[in-house]
Amino acid sequence: MPSIIVHGGAGAAVADADEFRPGMRAAVSAGWAVLAGGGRALDAVEAAVRSLEDDERFNAGRGAVLTEDGTVEMDASIMEGDRLGCGAVGAVSRVANPITLARRVLDDSRHVLLVAHGAHAFARAAGLPECDPASLITERQRRRLAERRAATPGNTPSRTPGGARSGTLPGTVGATALDRHGTVAAATSTGGMLGKRPGRVGDSALIGCGTYADSSLGGVSCTGDGEAIIRVVLARRALEYLKEADDPDYAAKVSVDLLVEEGRGEGGLIVVDWRGRIGYAHSTPLMPVGWMTPTLGEPALPF
Ligand code: GLY
Repeated sequence: MPSIIVHGGAGAAVADADEFRPGMRAAVSAGWAVLAGGGRALDAVEAAVRSLEDDERFNAGRGAVLTEDGTVEMDASIMEGDRLGCGAVGAVSRVANPITLARRVLDDSRHVLLVAHGAHAFARAAGLPECDPASLITERQRRRLAERRAATPGNTPSRTPGGARSGTLPGTVGATALDRHGTVAAATSTGGMLGKRPGRVGDSALIGCGTYADSSLGGVSCTGDGEAIIRVVLARRALEYLKEADDPDYAAKVSVDLLVEEGRGEGGLIVVDWRGRIGYAHSTPLMPVGWMTPTLGEPALPF
């Protein structure tokens, strides 16, 4: 049974979560259009994530958070679970859709991860349009960086006693899907963490941490404290839990416990299993999430 689940990032509660609803509906619909037409899960998750990268309310593509220098550096990864094909990019600033660049890395298959100027050179060679990094910066993110600088002199990340970064808005985006051929794919894209050091690469660029897919088990996309997610290799571990329990919702919940207790961070993840069942969990107040299956008339958006 084909299915897709999409997230819009784990983060703090916002006064109006409805602001994320149109973008989430559009992303689920973009992915579902591919699956309903008999297309590949890989194309579906790329389409869903591209849609959110193009929506400046999310922390990916245009609207990405800024580094401590006021620049944009984005990470993305994508994986197809039949033959463990994967592609990823880190610290890129000259492409509007990093997930499509990651997809080109997967299709090229020579390497798994390209970063910074090497990734930009590959994008040019692959014929992807180059964009002006300034075109990705929004007034909202400029303001957020200014507020952060004022609130945290010395630029130390603000942490709650439990270890989680406080005040982070939702925004990293991801999707995972099963197609009618039985293939699972997953994709994740982000601007990373507000006020990060230039050159910092997070979990969303790292296969096994932010993204993983194995068609015999399922697919996972993670969001939240990147350093904590890397510490516990969250996406791959979530599939181990899925294998043990055969329950995507349970696997998601146990994975979040792992992130909080062992990783000492906050976040969330989405899961689809090899049968098309979906699951999700988050430790943060909000994680926009939406999904579509053949039994639904329209995307479910329970947030
Ligand atoms: N999870 C997104 C990041 O920390 O980069």
